[in-house]
Amino acid sequence: MVETTISVIKADIGSLAGHVIVPDFLIELARKSLKEGVEKKIINDFHVSNAGDDLELIMTHNKGEGNAEVHKLAWDTFIKGTELARKKKIYAAGQDILADTFSGNVKGMGPGSAEMTFEERKSEPIAVFMADKTEPGAYNLPLFKIFADPFNTAGLVIDPNLHDGFKFVIQDIMKDIPCFIEMKAPEEMYDILALLGSTGRYTIKKIYRNDGMIAASVSTDKLHAVAGKYVGKDDPVAIVRAHSGLPAMGEVLEAFTLPHLVSGWMRGSHTGPLLPVGLKDSRCTRFDGPPRVIALGFQVSDGMLVGPVDLFDDVAFDISRQRGMEMADYLRRHGPFQPHRLSDDQMEYTTLPKVLTRCENRFVTEELVPKGKAKKKESSVE
Ligand code: F6R
Ligand code: MG
Ligand code: MG
Repeated sequence: MVETTISVIKADIGSLAGHVIVPDFLIELARKSLKEGVEKKIINDFHVSNAGDDLELIMTHNKGEGNAEVHKLAWDTFIKGTELARKKKIYAAGQDILADTFSGNVKGMGPGSAEMTFEERKSEPIAVFMADKTEPGAYNLPLFKIFADPFNTAGLVIDPNLHDGFKFVIQDIMKDIPCFIEMKAPEEMYDILALLGSTGRYTIKKIYRNDGMIAASVSTDKLHAVAGKYVGKDDPVAIVRAHSGLPAMGEVLEAFTLPHLVSGWMRGSHTGPLLPVGLKDSRCTRFDGPPRVIALGFQVSDGMLVGPVDLFDDVAFDISRQRGMEMADYLRRHGPFQPHRLSDDQMEYTTLPKVLTRCENRFVTEELVPKGKAKKKESSVE
């Protein structure tokens, strides 16, 4: 049987009125470009969307992961979009385009990608998660909950097909060469958490059911690692398969109700709650945030996409959004103080080190006493 590959490839190539939203004309351009990709038989089907200022290309094909033709189609779409965005003087046009020429795969060139390949089940429901103003580690907590926490996923206890657990492939994203470890839940749950708790370093790349069935895939691309400096957050995407021996869609979505704290937000330098929102709210405004995630549900049917359904556009998530907004308001009161502002090591690739070097050479080994003040004290003793 022919296997279907889902490739979600995304990039911030410019946005309206700051880093807020992808303009309609870029979405239109992307649709036209991917339609040509269908006509040329590079892909079978596609859906174009946006997570705030990130243009999201969701594609199906039968060419496998990391395929040069599919990646080039996405790359060319981003290049064409960048040209138009520059012409129209759209803000941060071409922000994530960090290479001059395409070299076989978008990896290491700026755009982010999550892909998975599977033999379609009798019915194949999937969710595509797309986040803005955050980083790949933002999915660590919800994905752990979906695939390893029985308090989130009832099926881990009730359904014999899930009962044998899942394998987590975790990437150390700080290493120059991609480095992965495979760990098994529930057996190695504490070790998994020891890694996944460090969201800036260890991120989930893929999750498989115990029998090897692919269940989830995440983009782990780090822009700063490519550019060597802060050029925007990595705004990650994830693909999750649901039902029939995997967590139900409701169990998948339940994991986003917290809303948990993630790194990103303003200037990629702050901690804030990840708000699960519908497409109509897929735009970051308050302090360039708070960070948010959208979820589109599809049925994959003989290599085609049926849908989408806007999964977080539901009153049931109002309480999470409200809680998130209250958390955001509370955190904002901390201004430039940690832990709202990220720790020094997390600020390495931002503009803060430039400011700090100005102060650095003024440090001396003795405690300084302001001159004017010391003199005044002497005269009063006399
Ligand atoms: C975060 C983000 C924004 C910008 C901020 C400053 O991912 O994109 O918060 O960092 O708006 O933008 P510039 O540096 O373009 O003025
Ligand atoms: Mg931007
Ligand atoms: Mg973004």
